[in-house]
Amino acid sequence: MDYLANTIVLHINPATPQPDLIAQAAQVIRAGGLVAFPTETVYGLGANALDAAAIDRIYAAKRRPASDPLIVHIAHADQLAQLAADVPYAAQRLAAAFWPGPLTMVLRRAAHVPANIAAGMDTVAVRMPIHPIARALIEASCTPIAAPSANTFTRPSATAAAHVLEDLYGRVDVVIDGGATPLGVESTVIDLTGATPLVLRPGGLVMEDLHRILPDITAVQRFLSEGDSTSAPGQLTKHYAPRARLMLYEGSPESIRDAITDTAQRYLANGRKVGVLAGDEDAPYFTQLGVRIIALGRRDDSAAIARVLFGAMRALDAQGVDVILAPLLGGAGLGEAIRDRLLRAAEGRVYKV
Ligand code: TXA
Ligand code: MG
Repeated sequence: MDYLANTIVLHINPATPQPDLIAQAAQVIRAGGLVAFPTETVYGLGANALDAAAIDRIYAAKRRPASDPLIVHIAHADQLAQLAADVPYAAQRLAAAFWPGPLTMVLRRAAHVPANIAAGMDTVAVRMPIHPIARALIEASCTPIAAPSANTFTRPSATAAAHVLEDLYGRVDVVIDGGATPLGVESTVIDLTGATPLVLRPGGLVMEDLHRILPDITAVQRFLSEGDSTSAPGQLTKHYAPRARLMLYEGSPESIRDAITDTAQRYLANGRKVGVLAGDEDAPYFTQLGVRIIALGRRDDSAAIARVLFGAMRALDAQGVDVILAPLLGGAGLGEAIRDRLLRAAEGRVYKV
């Protein structure tokens, strides 16, 4: 059954959240309702993490399968001990170093925390955001808040309130409009329940920083292997994806520009609408083609690209393009998350040129 609601939009100042408006949203959380709110990464779709019925409403509103677990957001370190059955030393050190911030830790779940938060698993994912609106909302609600990204299942994450409304209008009680999210990509997820710490999803906290605290940390293979993606695109779960078919190109800047130009001309000749995502250095090369171009930032400026990537996919969708052509951007640091999101959105369609 779908959760239907009369959506109210509250405009809240991200630097100094108005207490009366935060109280209004917190009242909805306490009553078991759904509140979408900004964090420093992306917008979250929040509900009381200790209320199993409210958690079910998240899955229904997002049209998300119950097999996909949710992150619990906290405002104080002592809330971690309430949610986790035990807090290993590694978790204490990571929390001290990186909280509040874009780090999510998977730990053993305390018995009183509803199982549907973790899709029935005996673990729980916890994160302490730094965004003032997120923190004020959690504090005023007097409960941890479960929140996946505030997009419908498989769509690009929401980095502005307009994106939340695009996907979830009429399906949530409150949308807090607190402006654009500063980072633009989701948190880094680390599993601390095994013998060695494991990065499950690259994100806003970069590997280089994690290594300093946990030298033995490793990352799960999110894709079959470099280059395998084209041979088995079906094996990549579609995620963060625009409606248009996204195709990625890997190679020198010149060969990527040539490949995108050739491919665009083929699609245009067949009467298709084409979108191009590109670095600032490359965007000017496509202006004569008759395609919709979005320049994401300089190729090596991962912070700039991360901020606008999801919004750019949504903007091209809104223009009704059939295909989106883009270089496989990314690299070290925040570039790992960019590369990961692009690969998922393209379901592994990477062309080496
Ligand atoms: O930045 C973020 O993390 C945003 C903001 C709203 O905090 N949230 C977010 O949530 O991206 P979501 O639901 O879209 O992604 C949560 C990720 C998923 O990859 C999920 O599989 C993983 O965290 N996850 C959650 N609980 C888990 C658990 N108990 N064990 C393993 N993975 C878990
Ligand atoms: Mg998500």
